[in-house]
Amino acid sequence: MIKPIVEIGDPVLREPTRPVSYEAVTTEPVQSLIDDLIDTMRHADGAGIAANQIGINLRIAIIGVDHNDRYPYKPHLPMQVLVNPTYRTLDDETYRNNEGCLSVPVRGYLDRFMNIEIEALNRNGEPFQQVYRGLSAGTVQHEIDHLDGFLITDRIDDNASISTWENFRRHEYDAFVDSIADAIIRTEPRGDT
Ligand code: NI
Repeated sequence: MIKPIVEIGDPVLREPTRPVSYEAVTTEPVQSLIDDLIDTMRHADGAGIAANQIGINLRIAIIGVDHNDRYPYKPHLPMQVLVNPTYRTLDDETYRNNEGCLSVPVRGYLDRFMNIEIEALNRNGEPFQQVYRGLSAGTVQHEIDHLDGFLITDRIDDNASISTWENFRRHEYDAFVDSIADAIIRTEPRGDT
């Protein structure tokens, strides 16, 4: 079911989310929440969504990009459910990203790590590890920030770069996509399209 998305200023976005117990992952309420997150993310054309963005304080996020109108430059990223995700960086390499958020009406520039590895549970409660690189790594860091109570407004380090989506498209989009060519090429995991 599509749910309303909580916007910046709501305290639920600032509370670190609670981990889901292993036994609870496969219960009906948690499975319904996961389905709601998927429906809401697709409806909003997001590249990811965290449970607290629909007002639920649980450490669950979804990521996935499939012919996304908001992000046409983003490589295909298979839909994934991340329960209790944490990440570690594989090295110090970063790239400059311009990020927006379904809960924030503006975008801006910030740094993201290029290469990370996560540990999480899938929606069956099974643990997995996965390496992400490039834009996928940025998306995962953005969602884990949500689960820790952080927003892009905490990470944007150049306030003069803040813009609406419409003005980003008009004035910054082409230069930005050129600037992240390397991060796009190195994006993993990617599907076969
Ligand atoms: Ni967001």
